[in-house]
Amino acid sequence: MDVTAALGSPNETSDQVLVVSSFAGEALSGGVQQLDSAADGYFSKLQADGALPVKLGKASLFHRVPGLSADCVVVSGAGDASEFGPWAATQWAGTAAKLLAADEHRQVGWHVEDFTSTNLTQAVAAAINGCHGQDLLRAKKNLHPFQSMHWFTEDTEAVRRGHILADGLLLARELVNLPANLMYPESFARRAAEVAVATGQELEVWDELRLRREGCGALLAVAAASARPPRLLILRHRGSAQRAPLALVGKGVTFDSGGLSLKPSDGMLDMKCDMAGAATVLAAMQVIARLDIERPVIGVVGLVENMISGHAFKLGDVLTARSGKTIEIHNTDAEGRLVLADALDVCQDEQPEQIIDLATLTGACVVALGTDVAGLMSNNQILEDQLRRCADAVGEQVWPLPMHAHFGEQIQSQVADIKNMGAGRWGGAITAAKFLEEFVRETPWTHIDMAGPAFSDKAKPHLDAGATGALVRTLVEFAGQG
Ligand code: BES
Ligand code: MN
Ligand code: ZN
Repeated sequence: MDVTAALGSPNETSDQVLVVSSFAGEALSGGVQQLDSAADGYFSKLQADGALPVKLGKASLFHRVPGLSADCVVVSGAGDASEFGPWAATQWAGTAAKLLAADEHRQVGWHVEDFTSTNLTQAVAAAINGCHGQDLLRAKKNLHPFQSMHWFTEDTEAVRRGHILADGLLLARELVNLPANLMYPESFARRAAEVAVATGQELEVWDELRLRREGCGALLAVAAASARPPRLLILRHRGSAQRAPLALVGKGVTFDSGGLSLKPSDGMLDMKCDMAGAATVLAAMQVIARLDIERPVIGVVGLVENMISGHAFKLGDVLTARSGKTIEIHNTDAEGRLVLADALDVCQDEQPEQIIDLATLTGACVVALGTDVAGLMSNNQILEDQLRRCADAVGEQVWPLPMHAHFGEQIQSQVADIKNMGAGRWGGAITAAKFLEEFVRETPWTHIDMAGPAFSDKAKPHLDAGATGALVRTLVEFAGQG
C-alpha cells in the first residue's frame, strides 16, 4: 500500500475519502469540529440529531458533504478525549478502515491533526491492519485493502513507523490465518528465509537430523506422528549495540490435534492458530530489523505438527529434553510446553540478557483472563513490569498471573524429573509456566500465554475475525526501549 504523510487542507483534499474523528461530549470536537464551518454546519446538525458516532468502535459514512471536496467522509468515534491513547487510536482508525474496506475505495485521507506520535503510529498500523481481512483464500473478498492512504500530518516518521509495524501485523496474521495444509514447519521456514533475506538477518534452520543431534527429545516427540518434519529456526538481528541479545522464543505448533489425547472437533477447528507465538516472533523480528533497532535480538521458534499415528508419543512415555531433564507424559495435548522446553534451552546457548517466550499455551489462561488479555508469568519482577508498561504504551492488554512455588509441586513426577501436566485443571496456565521455568537457567524470563488474544472467532469493529497480530506491537516496543 502507498502510504504518505503531508499537511494540507482536509476540506479541499483530492482524496476520495476523508476520515475524521469525533469525541464524546456536549460540544463538537476532533476532526469534525475543524471541518464544520467549511461544511456549513453539517456536522453540528448531525450532532444535534444525535446522529454523529462518538463511541469507540462506531463509525458512519456520509456521502457528498456540502463544502468538502472528498466524495465521502467517514466519522469515526474517538471516545472520551481525556482517554484518547494508543488503544483508542487503534480502534478509531481500525473501525473506520474496516467500514470503508467493505467496498472498494482506492484512496483514503486521514485527518489526524492533533495526534501524538505514539497515537499516530498506532492509528496508521491499525488502519492498514483494519482494511485487510482473513479471506486470503476467498475469490470474492469481504474486505478490499485501499490502494493508498494519505495522513494529514508533518510527522512523517510516526507514519513510516506505523507502516512498518502494519507490515509486521499483516505478516503475523497471514501466517496464522493460513490453514495447516499450507502452513507447516517447512513452509513456515521458507517464509522465514524470505523475511531474513529481505531484512538482512541471519537465519539458521535446524532440520530433523540436526534436532536429533542436538538432543531435542521433547520437541521431536511431539513431531513424531506427523508426516510433516519439524524445524527449529534461529533468527539473528545483530543490531548496533554491544550487548547480550534479547531472546524471543515462539511456540510453533502448526496444527494441534491434541495427539493421542485427541481434541474434540470443536476444540480442534481453530488449531491452525497454535503457531501464533512463532508467527509473532517472526513478525516482530521483521519489524525490529526494518526499524534498525539498536539492540541485538534473536528469535527462536520450534515448529511441529501434533498428530496421531503409529509413531505418536504416548501417555506414560518419558522423554529426555535437550537440557537433560526427563519428562513424563500425562497428556499429549500439553505439547506446547514440550516444544518450548527445547526452544528455550537452545536460546540460552546465545547467553541472552532476557528471554520472552510467546505461546498459545493453555485454555486455562483464556478461562482466567478472557479472550482479549494475554497472561504474563515471570521469574523476574522488573522484566514483567517493563513488559506491562510496553503493552500499555502500544495499547495492548496483558496481565500478570502468580508464580508461587506451590504450583511447581503439581508437576512433580514419581518416574521422571517432571511431568507435563498439573494435578488437575485448576491454575493450568500457571502450572504450564512452572513447567517452562524448569528450562530457564538464571536469565530473567517472562512467558506470555496468548491463547486468548492470538485468534478471534468473531470480527471486532476494528479488525476482521481470525488472527489478530496481538503482541507484535508490545515486542517491538520492548526491543526499542530495553
Ligand atoms: N494449543 C492448546 C491451547 C489453546 C487452547 C490455544 C485454546 C488456543 C485456544 C494447548 O496445546 C493445549 O491443548 N493445552 C491444554 C493443556 C492441558 C492438556 C494441560 C489445554 O489448555 O487444555
Ligand atoms: Mn495441545
Ligand atoms: Zn497446543
